[in-house]
Amino acid sequence: MNDAPAPAAPVIPAAYFGEQVTWVHHWTEHLFSFRCTRDTAFRFRAGEFAMIGLMVNGKPLVRAYSMASPPWDEELEFLSIKVQDGPLTSRLQHIRVGDTVLVGKKPTGTLVTDNLKPGRTLWLLATGTGLAPFLSLSREPEVYDRFEKVVVAHTVRQVAELAHRELFEKDLPEHEFLGEMVRGKLLYYPSVTREPFRTQGRITTLVESGKIFADLGLPPLDPEHDRVMLCGSEAMNRDCKAMLEARGFEEGANNAPGTYVVEKAFVTK
Ligand code: A2P
Repeated sequence: MNDAPAPAAPVIPAAYFGEQVTWVHHWTEHLFSFRCTRDTAFRFRAGEFAMIGLMVNGKPLVRAYSMASPPWDEELEFLSIKVQDGPLTSRLQHIRVGDTVLVGKKPTGTLVTDNLKPGRTLWLLATGTGLAPFLSLSREPEVYDRFEKVVVAHTVRQVAELAHRELFEKDLPEHEFLGEMVRGKLLYYPSVTREPFRTQGRITTLVESGKIFADLGLPPLDPEHDRVMLCGSEAMNRDCKAMLEARGFEEGANNAPGTYVVEKAFVTK
């Protein structure tokens, strides 16, 4: 008989759920996705973020991560960079199926449809891991009830960083339940800045030149009908804000809906 005590389950601080990793996918050496179980008490709105991380030396080590999965999904999904000397992502990049991750119990954020006035076209402009909240929003049926068109514009340095390209180009339009709603409404517009691709250049350049509108067959951004969500680096957010405000867009916030909202793509270490 083996009398050795079973290894102690990790003690999860009260502010977090301890969830089990169910899937990990490495897109590039700098970018990966993972999914985990979801407590039935964890409720969020598409576009929100929560504190996510690991127990390290008996303490929570967490960062803000947008949920990439939609609220109806029974699991949670996240998109993360990997930084070799980043306190969290140097560790998180090694998670495997069955490992425990921390999920903060209080999701929040500004990239929610309630913070936007009603409009015709919803523009979701992301760079890098800023795509995460838009992966959630573009799989949320309510978004398609509110808007006639939903554009996901994702700009990255290299083609390999166009995470979830297949989701937008194939899986969503063919999806059993969402397909019919998405087809003809969801427009995916990937662009790449540092190697050849069918669309090259920063989102700011593509808007200023009018190329994105010509390519998509949509009129130029107008605060009368268009609503915009921004999620990228500080530089991208700053330049896009200036570009939108020059066109008469006004920033929205909780309890004060506007014609655009912004949040930085959080995890940088
Ligand atoms: P670029 O290659 O021209 O810098 P990063 O990895 O640095 O966050 O960049 C992700 C993507 O965002 C890159 O394609 C990058 O283009 C683009 N980008 C960086 N800064 C800005 C900005 N100020 N406005 C728009 N796009 C930007």
